[in-house]
Amino acid sequence: MTATAALPGRLPALWLRAERGLDKAAGGTVHNPLRHLGALGFLCFWLLAISGIILYAVLDTSATGAYRSIADMSRLPWYLGGWLRSLHRYAADAFVVFTLAHLAREWLLGRYRGFRRFSWLTGVPLLLFVFACAIGGFWLNWDRLGQFSAIATAEWLDALPLFGSPLTRNFIDVAAVSDRLFSLFVFVHLGVPLLLVFGLWFHVQRIARAAVFPPRPLALAMTATLIALSIALPVVSQGPADLAQAPVSVDLDWWLLFVHPLMYASSPITVWLASGAALALLFALPYLPQPARPAVAVVDPANCNGCRRCFDDCPYAAISMVPHPNARIGRQLAVVQADLCASCGICVGSCPSATPFRSVAELVTGIDMPQQPLDALRRQLQHQLEAVAHERPIVVFGCDRGAQVGALGGSSVTTISLICIGQLPPSFIEYALRGGAAGVLVSGCRSCEYRLGARWTEERLGATREPRLRASVPRERIALAWADAGDEPRLRSALSALQDRVAALPAPAEENAIHE
Ligand code: HEM
Ligand code: SF4
Ligand code: SF4
Repeated sequence: MTATAALPGRLPALWLRAERGLDKAAGGTVHNPLRHLGALGFLCFWLLAISGIILYAVLDTSATGAYRSIADMSRLPWYLGGWLRSLHRYAADAFVVFTLAHLAREWLLGRYRGFRRFSWLTGVPLLLFVFACAIGGFWLNWDRLGQFSAIATAEWLDALPLFGSPLTRNFIDVAAVSDRLFSLFVFVHLGVPLLLVFGLWFHVQRIARAAVFPPRPLALAMTATLIALSIALPVVSQGPADLAQAPVSVDLDWWLLFVHPLMYASSPITVWLASGAALALLFALPYLPQPARPAVAVVDPANCNGCRRCFDDCPYAAISMVPHPNARIGRQLAVVQADLCASCGICVGSCPSATPFRSVAELVTGIDMPQQPLDALRRQLQHQLEAVAHERPIVVFGCDRGAQVGALGGSSVTTISLICIGQLPPSFIEYALRGGAAGVLVSGCRSCEYRLGARWTEERLGATREPRLRASVPRERIALAWADAGDEPRLRSALSALQDRVAALPAPAEENAIHE
């Protein structure tokens, strides 16, 4: 079952369509913001941290001086202070938007269970931290919006039996808003971001080489957009707080402060119940009944020499290295931690023992996928090549998650689908060509379900990453095609381009001797 079919309704399919649509507009997946939502969240966090540190340096952290110190900033030459403040606000808005969109994407694509449970569960508290920091930020300015937000928050908290005396008493008159209370505001707006940093670090712990920074052009474009917005629509204060009057109307930042009007439109308890239920649901999602888990990678100690390639390539840090029980085979042994394993097979593609040229009757590799062992893959390739030997076929290696290679027809084409294209050891390409294939088409998803499968495949075939495709393998007989499920036309056109190319090549010397 695909992730798209895992949820009722058409939302996941619509999301994927939007992603693909934006791929076209952005000229590929690399600069498509929908494919880098988490990394864009990180970028916003850094923009917030940098602009926040400068703002803090000029902020008077007393109840009487805060508003004036921020107002003074707007009198700096070229309105620099005002723009900086605006950048801080718009980066906070963007942070919330990217976080919510990132959450929605992971949810819609069913990425909250199994080996992703840790990332999901550590993501949920981040939501709380993000909103707590953002709301606390409005209080520091101590204008009428800050006053409205602080009193609304106090009323909301007072609905729970948490404090001996109501928090709202702190806002009865001007004298009640002491510097001590203001220190609490500062603590919320500085302390919670520290929790957020720790939470973000924790969130990506189980993700090897997490993309915590968007591709540079995307990062520059996003920063430039936020700066342009700050210049075009600078954020302004809404008059100093005045506790003698309740703010009748304030200009609200709906992204960050929506909870206040929600509370006034219902009741504090309703908002507590609604947010508690939403959080409970988010925390419960990974524990709901789920489809049976596929088998995880299995290490064969007799064939593992401890080279660490699988350890380096695993996208989910599911492999650890321990001392090898048999020092004659290697110093270290790979060990798979089953609950972290995504069953992607990318480690198989990296193992030096995973070569079909080995003359053993049964191909046992250092690490393998029980549901699609490499030995079965070698036999399948041999049988398929024999069946169409007279045709000199094109062999297409594809990915179960990507464009369906089985849909490619024609007697001169033979196809094999893998769990992820990263499962393919490059030596299989050489093996297919030596076994009589006229060419090899390697296909995978444009945005790899397992994060690194496409990247490692490109690097292995480009001979920049072990195991490398040998230099002697004729590159003109090989093509790479990145096509997602539903994008079979792209795969077909890559195939016909390769067919045309190899048809124009002189017939290769008979080189069917396949040996180690
Ligand atoms: C504070 C905002 C957040 C930021 C900056 C953030 C950032 C990231 C980053 C950088 C990754 C790694 C992406 C990659 O390298 O492929 C990631 C993965 C992930 N995040 Fe977040 N995240 C945030 C909040 C959340 C929330 C609220 C949830 C859901 C409750 C969530 C769920 C996930 C999941 C499930 C993954 C794993 C994706 C995969 O395995 O392919 N994140 N996040
Ligand atoms: S199957 Fe994938 S997640 Fe599991 S150990 Fe291998 S590379 Fe890591
Ligand atoms: S890549 Fe293969 S040989 Fe190397 S450590 Fe992993 S299982 Fe062992």
